[in-house]
Amino acid sequence: MPLVILNTELPLFTWTVDHPWLSAFLLALGSFTFLRFAVKTAVVFSQTFLLGGTSLKKFGAKQGAWAVVTGASTGIGREFAVQLAKAGFNVLVAARSTSSLNETVSEIASAASGSQTKVVTIDLSKDDEAAYASFADTIAALDIGVLVNNAGKSHEMPTDFVETPKSEMDDILAINTRAVLRITALVVPHMLQRKRGLILNIGSFAGEIPSPMLATYSASKAFLATFSAALGAELKPHGIVVEHVNTYFVVSNMSKIRRASALVPTPRAFVRAVLAKLGLPCGAAFTGRPHTSTPFWSHALVDYAIGVLGWTGGMVSYTHGLHKSIRKRALRKKEREAKRE
Ligand SMILES: NC(=O)c1ccc[n+]([C@@H]2O[C@H](COP(=O)([O-])OP(=O)(O)OC[C@H]3O[C@@H](n4cnc5c(N)ncnc54)[C@H](OP(=O)(O)O)[C@@H]3O)[C@@H](O)[C@H]2O)c1
Repeated sequence: MPLVILNTELPLFTWTVDHPWLSAFLLALGSFTFLRFAVKTAVVFSQTFLLGGTSLKKFGAKQGAWAVVTGASTGIGREFAVQLAKAGFNVLVAARSTSSLNETVSEIASAASGSQTKVVTIDLSKDDEAAYASFADTIAALDIGVLVNNAGKSHEMPTDFVETPKSEMDDILAINTRAVLRITALVVPHMLQRKRGLILNIGSFAGEIPSPMLATYSASKAFLATFSAALGAELKPHGIVVEHVNTYFVVSNMSKIRRASALVPTPRAFVRAVLAKLGLPCGAAFTGRPHTSTPFWSHALVDYAIGVLGWTGGMVSYTHGLHKSIRKRALRKKEREAKRE
């Protein structure tokens, strides 16, 4: 048997003997911190890579229920409309461009022929009472199982706050905050009546990490996260699930990224992950923000890493540097285009 010899002359040993209660407290604290870290890490990885989320059947899929998707004319919103139709919902698509919405409807028709569709052309940057009244009329008789608050606007390019055009600020706030409140207020009574529903609010990492040079957009997405958490708690006892979907980059017109990579999924892959992980916080589980989920695997790992490092100040500086260089490139591109005209 190996003989373990304790060197009782070591300063740590003598300190421990001299302060038994303090040593026990520090040992307990260390064990608790490690256990907490290990459990949270296990939750993040198992939810992101192993577990499946709540079935869409719980929200009326294949039972004649409707999904309402705003900003469904392109990108992530169009993909939500198509995948929800494939999952067995009738779909109402809303945005400004009727022709692009009709393209979404054609895609639905070829992907899910049994699904009914409705098109609502609405400019969510305007507080247009007539348009909201007409929206309310259109949904009056519908059994709405799902609402996806997806329509969104960001800055044309990263810009210092003082140089941001007022019209851009107004539009971002109107579309990303006020329209979300108004559309949600119209839809929730339908869900309350049937005691079930799913509200997906498409958020951004810019709402979690303050993003210099996208200050208005970043703040609007922070609003969305807080609104979702508060609303989620209110509606949970009524069988309605609210989920703020924390999103890093996705290929789209808004991100101006055209090629997918491990960190930047296509809208199809992104939406598939959102719908497969409903009700699971995934990457957001480490920091435990209520009613927030980071479901796409690489976004989940980034969210986890941010939580582990807890280095928000560093992330803000990194993002600021990134946005300065994106702005430089965007201005150069604009110059080249102006010369060509
Ligand atoms: N792509 C990313 O990297 C990323 C990252 C984080 C979060 N997000 C969020 O994901 C959501 C979808 O963005 P996306 O990337 O798919 O961008 P996108 O392709 O530009 O889609 C934006 C959608 O919003 C609609 N929209 C814009 N202004 C509107 C208005 N005034 N009234 C009604 N609808 C309006 C657009 O339709 P019309 O132009 O036809 O109106 C379009 O359907 C947004 O909320 C965005 O903040 C995206």
